[in-house]
Amino acid sequence: MKKRIFSGAQPTGNLHLGNYLGALKNWVALQDEYESFFCIVNLHAVTLPQDPQVLRQKTLDLARIYLASGIDPEKSTVFIQSDVSEHAELAWILSCTTRMGELERMTQFKDKGKGNAERAGVGLFTYPVLMAADILLYQTHLVPVGQDQKQHLELSRDLAERFNRDFGETFVVPEPFIPPVGARIQSLADPAKKMSKSDENANGAIFLMDDADTIVKKLKKAVTDSGTEIKFDETRPAINNLLTIYQLMTGKTAAECEANFVGKGYGHFKTETAEAVVEFLKPFQERVKNYTDEDLKAILRTGAEKAKTIARETLTDVYGKMGIVGALN
Ligand code: TYM
Repeated sequence: MKKRIFSGAQPTGNLHLGNYLGALKNWVALQDEYESFFCIVNLHAVTLPQDPQVLRQKTLDLARIYLASGIDPEKSTVFIQSDVSEHAELAWILSCTTRMGELERMTQFKDKGKGNAERAGVGLFTYPVLMAADILLYQTHLVPVGQDQKQHLELSRDLAERFNRDFGETFVVPEPFIPPVGARIQSLADPAKKMSKSDENANGAIFLMDDADTIVKKLKKAVTDSGTEIKFDETRPAINNLLTIYQLMTGKTAAECEANFVGKGYGHFKTETAEAVVEFLKPFQERVKNYTDEDLKAILRTGAEKAKTIARETLTDVYGKMGIVGALN
């Protein structure tokens, strides 16, 4: 029996290079070795206000991006979170075993809630519980994510262990898979911040669907550090970030990347990095056009059916152990 992986992304905004390098790239690499579930987490998306029309469109667009990245629906189960209502049901159960204090410590809530808990939605607060439900429903062994999800993963592990202790062995306790390189791609405009869909500075993120001119322009404007050397150096976060992007786009080793830029200036470095990104994204952007809405819906329907069978099994076990019995079955 293959071990399982589960991961997901929110159908909000546009996916950027950070999402790809921190997450999707690894999903693709792991899908042969693991039985894989890749979810479009539209219930997470509504923890912040969304335009319904846009959310509807972005949900299918994200499926397109998963497939164009190389996720193979013959090998992996791709589905939309709201199609499998067990996610919301298990989230409720787990929210009854989660402590307020555990959620208060979540840094993403502090960031997204902008420090104003009084006005933040309750869903934003309990967001990590829904994420734990996503993962635990599938008896997931490994969760490939970027660095920013590490704390949420720790909560998922704690909730699994607590349930297993209180009600008997029920959930696999999941491990995070955080890639050694690319787990946190920083904003091009402010290398102290992560690259993000909602960056206020339009030049901070390279989106997967950006055209060549836009990519060149954004990289030209990218902030750099003082000094002239182009080397991996944690103390020079801007150059470190650009060099990481260059490395992941070209597949070269760190030493090869550094050797490539010995004696070269920042201008040259940025141009070559932009070329590497454009080259990398070109075939991806072509593939995105390959899928019609009908194709996608068929794949997502099949995925949801498979996911639901497994999710229901876990939930039935959970309900049984807790003494939750209805009259219908
Ligand atoms: P989301 O939609 O914010 O991001 C999707 C994935 O992209 C990674 N990521 C990054 N990696 C490197 N550098 C960056 N700058 C960067 N920005 C984002 C994220 O770590 C993530 O892996 N809560 C999740 C979605 C989710 C989920 C799950 C993930 C819901 N349920 C269950 C795994 C398992 C999120 O908002 O991702």
